Amino acid sequence: MFKVETRLFEKADLKSIKECAHIIQSGGIVAFPTETVYGLGADALNPKAVDRIFLAKGRPNDNPLIIHLHNLDSLDLYVKDIPEVFFTLSKLFMPGPLTVILKKRDIIPDNVTAGLDTVALRIPDNQIALSLIEYSNRPLAAPSANISGKPSPTTYDHVVEDLNYRVDAIINGGKTQIGMESTVLDLTQEPPVILRPGGISFNSLKLVIKDLERAYDLKEESPKSPGMKYKHYAPNAPMYIVKGKQEHMVKKIQSLIKEKSGLLVSKETFDMYESKNKLCVGSLLDPLEIASNIFESLRLFDKMDIDEIYCEYFEIGDMQDTVMNRLLKAAANKIIDADSQDSVHCQP
Ligand code: TXA
Ligand code: MG
Repeated sequence: MFKVETRLFEKADLKSIKECAHIIQSGGIVAFPTETVYGLGADALNPKAVDRIFLAKGRPNDNPLIIHLHNLDSLDLYVKDIPEVFFTLSKLFMPGPLTVILKKRDIIPDNVTAGLDTVALRIPDNQIALSLIEYSNRPLAAPSANISGKPSPTTYDHVVEDLNYRVDAIINGGKTQIGMESTVLDLTQEPPVILRPGGISFNSLKLVIKDLERAYDLKEESPKSPGMKYKHYAPNAPMYIVKGKQEHMVKKIQSLIKEKSGLLVSKETFDMYESKNKLCVGSLLDPLEIASNIFESLRLFDKMDIDEIYCEYFEIGDMQDTVMNRLLKAAANKIIDADSQDSVHCQP
């Protein structure tokens, strides 16, 4: 892998954004903030630039990318056979953390979609991202701006840590608001299917799509979204999710803690544990706070001297699917059931 000079734009002013747009137009790759996580963008219509994204991230090239648009004006250039429900969804959730899968047109290079005949599209709800797309005057293919397999980046520092000397530019947009990736919704199937839970909840989408399905059941054997089969978000230390009634969960974790155990717990239970390696992700009464802190916490564990991590199962309503999907992946599905006598369950 060649080392490249990375330009660090600490301030996301208009001048910086215009320079980054120029880099994109010249075939470069630029990391930028969105409302979900940071993305690593390239001109989606330039296959050579898109190849550099895969290289910089160490991403398997059978895992397709999301195309980021500024608005829906040129939608028909990129996709066809758009179902009616798309227009209802776009009115409600775009810009926003919703990605839709539609039938692609030939103008989209094969490496963007990993050879599929469909393409993922979204409009990010972040002014820096929108301006970058607008000034680039290109659709931007952009995966999350992390090294493949690591937790997604929610701060500028995370991106610099992973991608300095691998990409042409990084724009600082502070901490991302949502902190979890977009919901990926496949509209080429009938009924539509959520391939990845994310910033827009199942219940919100269900209001529009009555027969909506989910394909991210943990026991799903052949993942529908190519990205779902890969190891994800994993901290260096092995991680276990402890599930059960709160009282049982706390007791179980208390009994498991050793000197070098890391803990990821809620504000409500934080004081119940004696450990110097415990991190609080936020209050159970504020699911959005928890969601926004998960990836940062997972990265913090890598800086701590710990042998393993115990993480509470967070029961937090609408955001639970998304948060627990990421945590279970980070834990490679290692679950300890605090309500039962058995110890570790490892779901397929
Ligand atoms: O919030 C987000 O979605 C962030 C920001 C940067 O926009 N992006 C992001 O991209 O999370 P990435 O590449 O890390 O995840 C994209 C997911 C992967 O699971 C991929 O397999 C799936 O979307 N995907 C992309 N195109 C697809 C397609 N045509 N069919 C099925 N799944 C697709
Ligand atoms: Mg990703």
